[in-house]
Amino acid sequence: MSKHYKIAVLPGDGIGPEVMREAIKVIDVLKQMDPSFHIELHSYPWGSEYYLKHGEIMPRDGFQELIKYDALLFGAVGDKRVPDEITIWDFIMPIRKNFNQYINFRPVKLLKGVESPLKDSENIEFVIIRENAEGEYSNSGGTLYSGTDSEIAIQNTIVTKSGVEKVAKYAFEYARKNNFKSVVSATKSNAIIHSMKLWDEIVVKVSKDYPEISMQSNYIDALAAYFVSKPKEFEVVVASNLFGDILSDLGAAVVGGLGLSPSANLNPEGDFPSMFEPVHGSAPDIAGKNIANPIAQIWSTALMLKHLGRDDLGALIIDAIQEVLRKKEVRTPDLGGTAKTIEMGSAICDAIKLMMSKERVEI
Ligand code: NAI
Ligand code: MG
Repeated sequence: MSKHYKIAVLPGDGIGPEVMREAIKVIDVLKQMDPSFHIELHSYPWGSEYYLKHGEIMPRDGFQELIKYDALLFGAVGDKRVPDEITIWDFIMPIRKNFNQYINFRPVKLLKGVESPLKDSENIEFVIIRENAEGEYSNSGGTLYSGTDSEIAIQNTIVTKSGVEKVAKYAFEYARKNNFKSVVSATKSNAIIHSMKLWDEIVVKVSKDYPEISMQSNYIDALAAYFVSKPKEFEVVVASNLFGDILSDLGAAVVGGLGLSPSANLNPEGDFPSMFEPVHGSAPDIAGKNIANPIAQIWSTALMLKHLGRDDLGALIIDAIQEVLRKKEVRTPDLGGTAKTIEMGSAICDAIKLMMSKERVEI
């Protein structure tokens, strides 16, 4: 009997609910077209509106609720009426950390029909594997003497041997599985001489178990420039939490923008649900206008289905996205067009329907 998936949907704030609506439309089409695909979605209204009403961004027992699911599909959080530290640190970060989603997997791929701002851009395709549970985003530190001339702020970076080992192993295993020849590690051990030195040592140590894969360390400042000057050379980039965060917006810009960039927060052991979300945030500058590009959210949904074991459906969604972009008929404003979020979502749904009905005819 085919599996029945249970998914928690967390649309969040700003453009989150707008792009999530389109991802749900895609799931509905897959359900309609493939009777063997059983999936149940439960949506939660958590986020800034909820906070303004209830004084908390998610209920205290929210984690007991979320842990029951096979995966979480997340939109974005952030609202000008609520401090970002609340939306980030009371919502998305605790999910990543409590569910030990220590890998953040972010594909960077230039799809046909999308223009890169770079001249020589054909065949850009690599993946950023970001440490997602510790590092610079550790919420360790504090302030002293607030509001006085002696004010002090201390923010600690926490790098553990086991944390780096896990993300480095994941990156090399991914490279091996996909027959890639190189892994690039983002570092800054010339200036950050404690935490980044440990990062370097562990990545080098892990790399010894993969003699067929070359390992190169690049300082983050130079690496940022290489993302622009020679992005085609990358296959797998492994980075700490902060470096991976910055590199992924840069990577997104190189392949057409944040509206096209998906991500997966993974707990590879499957002890907890993994979470799938676009790289982008709530985009308050365009929220409510129905012009956000839903592709990042829909592609994240494809990553979720692949993770759940439905590689076929995940690949189908990505093919449909590719088909719509290649045709260049429906384009949201970030891609230079005038199409609405809903139109882009519908175009992808139509492409999926067409592909699935053709498959049926061929069978
Ligand atoms: P952002 O990613 O929301 O927006 C950056 C720029 O990209 C904006 O000009 C926006 O209009 C554009 N953009 C983003 N997604 C788009 C889409 N799907 N289609 C078309 N254009 C798109 O980052 P920003 O402005 O730094 O942050 C806004 C809020 O989002 C803040 O409150 C921030 O804390 C939060 N945030 C939340 C994240 C999450 O939920 N995982 C991640 C990043 C930021
Ligand atoms: Mg980010």
